[in-house]
Order: sequence, then structure tokens, then C-alpha cells
Amino acid sequence: MRIAIYPGSFDPVTLGHLDIIKRASAVFDKLIVAVMHNQNKVPMFDTEERMELLRRTINNLPNVEITSFGGLLADYARQQDACAIIKGLRAVSDFEYEFQMALANRKLNPELDTVFLMTSAEYMYLSSSVVKDIAVHGGNVAGFVPAEILDDIMLRTRKDG
Ligand code: COA
Repeated sequence: MRIAIYPGSFDPVTLGHLDIIKRASAVFDKLIVAVMHNQNKVPMFDTEERMELLRRTINNLPNVEITSFGGLLADYARQQDACAIIKGLRAVSDFEYEFQMALANRKLNPELDTVFLMTSAEYMYLSSSVVKDIAVHGGNVAGFVPAEILDDIMLRTRKDG
């Protein structure tokens, strides 16, 4: 059983993330989508909310599991018996940071490889921050996030703004 982990903040999940989830789940026996903590970010949605938004989005992929973890990714991968981390690459600018993370994770867990999937061209520009920024300023994010979570984003950004 080849298990992979797709980690991220997912604050919130976007169509770009969903694209990577669908493609990675077709390659591995099981895909664990892990909502994790990025120490450089203050999230808009708490961990439970981010997991719920993911769950609602991924309702028809039987080999995908939604989890959360507050520690090191390398430790979580060992704990889950995962052989790979999945990351999406959007542009050359992502490369240096992702390269560093992949090497650090490999050092922490030598059995762990990072597999990079090129983001589909239509999502190259997309990030969770772009979605939040558009929504906070009253823009329409319908083409950026799954339809199932559109209302949650509009409600939250209206409340905060
Ligand atoms: N489509 C759309 N957006 C995408 C994308 C895609 N295919 N791939 C990435 N993005 C976006 C993300 O939404 C994120 O947007 P944001 O900055 O506006 O929030 C941005 O690109 C960066 O993504 P990523 O580099 O994956 O960062 P992240 O915050 O989502 O996840 C963790 C980072 C949580 C995986 C990382 O901090 C971590 O591993 N933490 C655990 C602690 C640990 O082990 N630290 C040591 C690591 S060596």
C-alpha cells in the first residue's frame, strides 16, 4: 500500500489544491490530506474549519483521507507509514523554497521522498491568500474555489471586513 501525504495550510482549499488532490490520489493507493501549521501564517479559518471545508470538497474520492497534525511533517509521515510527500509547483519561484523543505524533510526522515506535481496551467496564479484578498475586497471568487465552500468564504470575509 503506497501512502502519500499532501500537507498544507489549506486556508482555504482552492481549485488548485483540488486539482493536485485528484491527480495524486490517482497515483497513490491512499492520499492523506493533512491540514498543518505554517508558523509564518495566521489562518483565517481554524484547523477544524479548514478540515470541514476540505471534507465538503472531496466527497467522491474513496482513497483520500482528511486529517490534521500540529507537529513536524517528517514525524507525521513516519507515523502514517507514508513514503511520499506531495507538493504542487506553480512557478519557478516556488522551487527554491520547496527544494529546501524537501531536503530538510528527507534529512529528518530518510525514507521520505517529496513528489512534485506541476500545477495545471489555469491555477498557476492561484493561492489561498489571493482568494482571501479578492473576497475581502468584495470580489467574486467563484472561479477559484470549489462551489461547495463559496458561501463559507463570502460569509467569513464579510464578517471580518
Ligand atoms: N494551487 C493553488 N494554490 C497552491 C497550490 C496549488 N496547487 N500549491 C500551493 N498553493 C498555495 C497555498 O495555498 C499557499 O497559499 P498561501 O501562502 O496564500 O496560504 C501557498 O501556495 C504556499 O503553499 P505551501 O508552500 O504548500 O504552504 P502551506 O502554508 O500551504 O503549507 C506546510 C506549508 C504546512 C506544509 C509547512 O509549513 C509544514 O510542513 N509545516 C509543518 C511543520 C514542519 O514540518 N516544518 C518543517 C518543514 S521542513
